[in-house]
Amino acid sequence: MENLLIVANWKSNKTSIEATLWLHQFAIDNLQLTNKEVVVCPPFTLLPIIKEKADKLGIKLGAQNISPFGKGAFTGEVNEEQIKEVAEYVIIGHSERRKNFNEDDNLLNKKVAMAISQNIAPIFCISDTTMNVPPGVKVVAYEPLFAIGTGSADTPENAQEVARKIKDRNKNVEQVLYGGSVTPENVRSFTQMENVRGVLVGGGSLDASEFLKIIQNA
Ligand code: PGA
Repeated sequence: MENLLIVANWKSNKTSIEATLWLHQFAIDNLQLTNKEVVVCPPFTLLPIIKEKADKLGIKLGAQNISPFGKGAFTGEVNEEQIKEVAEYVIIGHSERRKNFNEDDNLLNKKVAMAISQNIAPIFCISDTTMNVPPGVKVVAYEPLFAIGTGSADTPENAQEVARKIKDRNKNVEQVLYGGSVTPENVRSFTQMENVRGVLVGGGSLDASEFLKIIQNA
């Protein structure tokens, strides 16, 4: 069975000092990461700053976005070659981007293709209203809209059922994560489900001690 994937999505949070303090706190607790893979997805500006320290701690890095266009005259975009230098993963299709930046399936397909062209692994997010997974995606995060940042997570049984459906419908998908109000207290109820092979954590990842508890309890 795959390692559990525990992904931190910092969203638009943390300065370089705050990120450094987070890593310092994480290091103090000196966690053994057997059977678990930890991925931290900070804002772009922090990726090169925390890379060396994250490498030493056995933490993998992920980006939160990728340009659908590749290199060239696309002001404000960060392309796949640039991301490849600092990250192994990229979150694509998060509901906050679908909603606030009007990202649709067509655009998301292009982003996924760009990531895969550089062997960057997409963590493709779908909600309770979308089930489309672009070709080539191996890791999907199921994040129901009602559970993101609300403190009311889905039930583990429903997450398990949705994860099963995702895998049934998309034969390339190897690993389904659950995301939405994951805490140290509820994480195990999700990861003990056969089809839920990890979690995507927003708010609960901003404090290193809390995130460590989530990793430990998963
Ligand atoms: P949350 O966010 O853990 O704060 O609910 C999850 C996410 O949006 O990835």
